[in-house]
Amino acid sequence: MGLVIKALKYLLLLHISLIFIYTNEVSSTSTVTPPPLRAKMSRRLVAVEGMVYCKSCKYSGIDTLLEASPLQGATVRLACNNTKRGVTMETKTDKNGYFFMLAPNKLTTYASHTCRAWPTKPGPSAATMTCTIPSQLNNGTTGAVLKPSKPINIAEHDYVLFSVGPFAFEPACTR
Ligand SMILES: *[C@@H]1O[C@H](CO)[C@@H](O)[C@H](O)[C@H]1NC(C)=O
Ligand SMILES: *[C@@H]1O[C@H](CO)[C@@H](O)[C@H](O)[C@H]1NC(C)=O
Repeated sequence: MGLVIKALKYLLLLHISLIFIYTNEVSSTSTVTPPPLRAKMSRRLVAVEGMVYCKSCKYSGIDTLLEASPLQGATVRLACNNTKRGVTMETKTDKNGYFFMLAPNKLTTYASHTCRAWPTKPGPSAATMTCTIPSQLNNGTTGAVLKPSKPINIAEHDYVLFSVGPFAFEPACTR
């Protein structure tokens, strides 16, 4: 008899502690965690990266970057219809043909679908490579939509890094 009561007491204690753990978990997940998480994820700033190439003479007019070389100093424009006045900005590629831009704070990921990016000028280094004709590769003449790649943090601001391209200019050469 004594043993049974002991066992019952033990079970009761276990039950109470389980209820305690359960209610604690429920209250912490339902009231504390989701709101800050959601606020953090929903609205982020926009960063855009990509590459610009000079296509090889061998493949001019063909949609390929085989034997293409990075184009330095090419101008890339980002234009968005996020508001009536919109956002327009430009940047230039580095020696590796790479560009990276941080859009102004008035543009957030909510409106990133209103943006297009494309290369506007081949830059001075194109003269030696004779890469002067914009290529439609990856919507390089009509403007490419931004594809999200990953969240990044710059100077304590949350961005989503988007990618476009790779873009190219056609070489003006006879095969
Ligand atoms: C923004 O809207 C104008 C007028 O409708 C349009 O011509 C332009 O292509 C749009 N720009 C982008 C980046 O979608
Ligand atoms: C290129 O443009 C077409 C037509 O507007 C669109 O369907 C497609 O998603 C675009 N692709 C890129 C990479 O921007």
